[in-house]
Amino acid sequence: MEQKTKITGDIHYVGVNDRKSPLFEGLWPLPYGVSYNSYLIVDEMVALIDTVEICYFEEYILKIKKILGSRPIDYLIINHMEPDHSGSIRLIKEQYPNIIIVGNKQTFGMVEGFYGVTGEQYLVGDGDFLKLGKHHLRFYMTPMVHWPETMMTYEETTETIFSGDAFGTFGALNGGFIDSKINVSIYWDEMVRYYSNIVGKYGSPVQRALTKLADVKLSNICSTHGPVWTQKENIDKVVSIYNDLSLYNAKEGVVIIYGTMYGNTEAMAEEIALELSEQGIKDIVLHNANKSDASYIIADVFRYKGLIVGSPTYNGQVYPRVEALLSDILLRDIKNRYLGYFGSFSWASAAVKRMGDFVTKSKFELVADPIEMKHAMKPINYDQCSHLAKSMADRLKKDSK
Ligand SMILES: Cc1cc2nc3c(=O)[nH]c(=O)nc-3n(C[C@H](O)[C@H](O)[C@H](O)COP(=O)(O)O)c2cc1C
Ligand SMILES: [Fe+2]
Ligand SMILES: [Fe+2]
Repeated sequence: MEQKTKITGDIHYVGVNDRKSPLFEGLWPLPYGVSYNSYLIVDEMVALIDTVEICYFEEYILKIKKILGSRPIDYLIINHMEPDHSGSIRLIKEQYPNIIIVGNKQTFGMVEGFYGVTGEQYLVGDGDFLKLGKHHLRFYMTPMVHWPETMMTYEETTETIFSGDAFGTFGALNGGFIDSKINVSIYWDEMVRYYSNIVGKYGSPVQRALTKLADVKLSNICSTHGPVWTQKENIDKVVSIYNDLSLYNAKEGVVIIYGTMYGNTEAMAEEIALELSEQGIKDIVLHNANKSDASYIIADVFRYKGLIVGSPTYNGQVYPRVEALLSDILLRDIKNRYLGYFGSFSWASAAVKRMGDFVTKSKFELVADPIEMKHAMKPINYDQCSHLAKSMADRLKKDSK
């Protein structure tokens, strides 16, 4: 019987799908689920690369044993210690007590700390090599993508990179796990949402990792989440998405984030959007901060060059949901955005003034003075909103000239 787990040569997919968890890391919605990918290389020596969330251990070990039978695993290579991948280490060690754990100098303390697992270890550094037989593994240290111990493992004969979370995406695998055998259309937007929320803060380390891989030929990308990428056009697209996002490159377009209770601040957002459209900006996304999940908003802030934020004054503060989003944006160190902002109040304005803090901290380029509206939209407020929108559109168009 042909093994359905095969990727190429003697490399097998032994990952699992999570269609149960509503949220990833307890924060990020998973409408399409998520996969925890693990890989097995069967050669003179057998290597398992990363593991899976512990609650999937039973399914996982069955997959492994179906391939290996009673044959032991020689090496467990740990590219990343976040528990969605390291969760099964202790149980794997129980099944295979002689397994040698392969990691870098950041890895082993975490293995012992999280799981109390010690025993034989194989310490690798940047560029180190491990021969399994006909398969040759080379290790690349890629710290802070997105934890300190993260590294990548490259199998030279098949040009396969086991990249950890890098090049990963949300979305469980439905049927096959190889891009050429499935419809991959859902993964592109989910990749942006995955990157921007999970890895988003670490643009510079991701850039360093990409530079390190620049001369490495990639015929297969085996990440820890999402499909195995084998098609040239997909590999190019995946690398280019990660490259653009980590450089904070964004396209012409505007995301308008606003909070509202009774619709007055929203009316300002609508007027700004209308004028942006008049000015020829086609990609405009309005997010009501009360309704849109933050992960989708953050993804759009990574996507578009223009950001406009609006908030009513709420008990002398910025509206809480807007405040939280501003902090989410700052946390991710997003760079090079054009910014406009506006607010509304009824007796003592505070939101707009307080949002000034965000302007300073974000270092975004302000395209116009902020607007403040009292009570409800009046002719002057329509003019102010149009002016803000025009300034944003002009700034964006200047870049595309
Ligand atoms: C719970 C609550 C607290 C508010 N606190 C303030 C305030 O501290 N200062 C102020 O000027 N307006 C305050 N307002 C009034 C709103 O900021 C103002 O009506 C705003 O335009 C509402 O925007 P919206 O229609 O988009 O919800 C408050 C309103 C509510 C409901
Ligand atoms: Fe991770
Ligand atoms: Fe992960």
